[in-house]
Amino acid sequence: MTAVETGRTHRLGPVADIPVGEGRAYAVDGDQVAVFRLRGGGLRAVSAVCPHAGGPLADGLIDAKVVICPLHQHVYDLATGCSTTGQPPLRVYAVHIDADGDVVVTK
Ligand code: FES
Repeated sequence: MTAVETGRTHRLGPVADIPVGEGRAYAVDGDQVAVFRLRGGGLRAVSAVCPHAGGPLADGLIDAKVVICPLHQHVYDLATGCSTTGQPPLRVYAVHIDADGDVVVTK
């Protein structure tokens, strides 16, 4: 049988710490991860540092699909990490809310 690399889970604290429609940055295992709480429900987690010039993506504006970097307005798909404005992609992380209401990221 082949072992499957699944990553480690990291509890980041109560989902209530993230206002609906906004993001928060967390230090996870040496990397900055931005977790966004979508207005329609659900979470998205991507690398928090914009590949363009290091902008703070957790402070960006989001809609149901994308985040816009606050520094120079490059746009990234929150589900795939791909930039729709020609930048390198963001890393995407699995994220969910556990039974205690905490955000859990797999990295
Ligand atoms: S740093 Fe994000 S768009 Fe320039």
